[in-house]
Amino acid sequence: EVAEKGGYPDFMLKEIHEQPRVIRDTLAGRLVGGRLQIDELDLSPEELNLIDRVCVIACGTSLHAGLVAKELIEGWARIPTEVEAASEFRYRNPIVTPSTLVVAVSQSGETADTLAAIRDARVKGARVFGITNVLGSPVARESDGVIYTKANKEIAVASTKSFLGQVTSLCLLALLLAQAKGKLRMNQIRMLFGELADTAEQVEWVLGREEAVREAAEACVGATSALFVGRGMGAAIAREGALKLKEISYLHAEAYPAGEMKHGPIALIDEGFPVIAVATRGPVYDKVVSNMQESRARGARVIAIATEGDEDIRAHADHVIYIPKVRDAFSAITASVPLQLLARRIAVLRGCDVDQPRNLAKSVTVE
Ligand code: G6P
Repeated sequence: EVAEKGGYPDFMLKEIHEQPRVIRDTLAGRLVGGRLQIDELDLSPEELNLIDRVCVIACGTSLHAGLVAKELIEGWARIPTEVEAASEFRYRNPIVTPSTLVVAVSQSGETADTLAAIRDARVKGARVFGITNVLGSPVARESDGVIYTKANKEIAVASTKSFLGQVTSLCLLALLLAQAKGKLRMNQIRMLFGELADTAEQVEWVLGREEAVREAAEACVGATSALFVGRGMGAAIAREGALKLKEISYLHAEAYPAGEMKHGPIALIDEGFPVIAVATRGPVYDKVVSNMQESRARGARVIAIATEGDEDIRAHADHVIYIPKVRDAFSAITASVPLQLLARRIAVLRGCDVDQPRNLAKSVTVE
């Protein structure tokens, strides 16, 4: 087992460090002659162009990749996109028509609720695309087309590299839809693809700077609860950050859109309460900073995930974890990594088994 962990103390850390490779492999061969190609989806540009709605269905971490996808698909392809837990979708007679594209995201490709939702969507006439990590899995078999995430086998129960593979794949899908809808010009798509590919190196940069994460983790270890906040893409990233922390450290964590704090969660804040803010430079940066100030004024210990070079943020945070500057659309890739490291570090400090958290299973094949 020591050999399998490749010198890392646990599988989770090993898998976190594999993420640059996952991004590269997921993107390999996708830009051919300047055009995006995802042949396995098997839809002509004309058929893609008819899609007027997207529903992403998934569970757990995969559901959070779906939240990221909503931002990307709506932002680039301008197609209304809903994201729903498969366990809800399957029981509520959702509105799905033949012009709806259902995207089922599942690392294992065998989650019972996700499969039931796929079947339901297909009965209603929707096209279903699967995004999965497991070759020939039920999700792959039962979908009309599939993108494989190239994460390779993930052993730690809490998903990390699969999540990044999913987000990378969903970036590709969003670009493909934008290409089919004519919402982005070819040169824009090429530029975005290039920036997406650059995230592999940027993730490497983040992985090389764990010291700041360690300090922030030490500040959280004695807490009983933590709040993760962000806006827009940052809100989606916050959701995944909070889930990671709950899963492996058993510390209660909640994610909230930062602008909603004043409608409830701010009441939780007292001296030393950890607030983890996704405060990267982007369209809502100033708004998030003002939420950080509000939290600090009430005694919160604020940890900011911020953009490299942003020295101003230090005035509003107790701890700053920097990530490289990327376009907001790709911040889900870069900003998720320090949150994975933070959750793991806190769990280790609390003496938890990070690879095998209590009560959780790697795949949930029964309801
Ligand atoms: C379980 C796992 C999670 C995973 C979720 C969905 O809860 O512990 O890590 O995100 O199932 O699994 P899937 O294989 O469908 O992505």
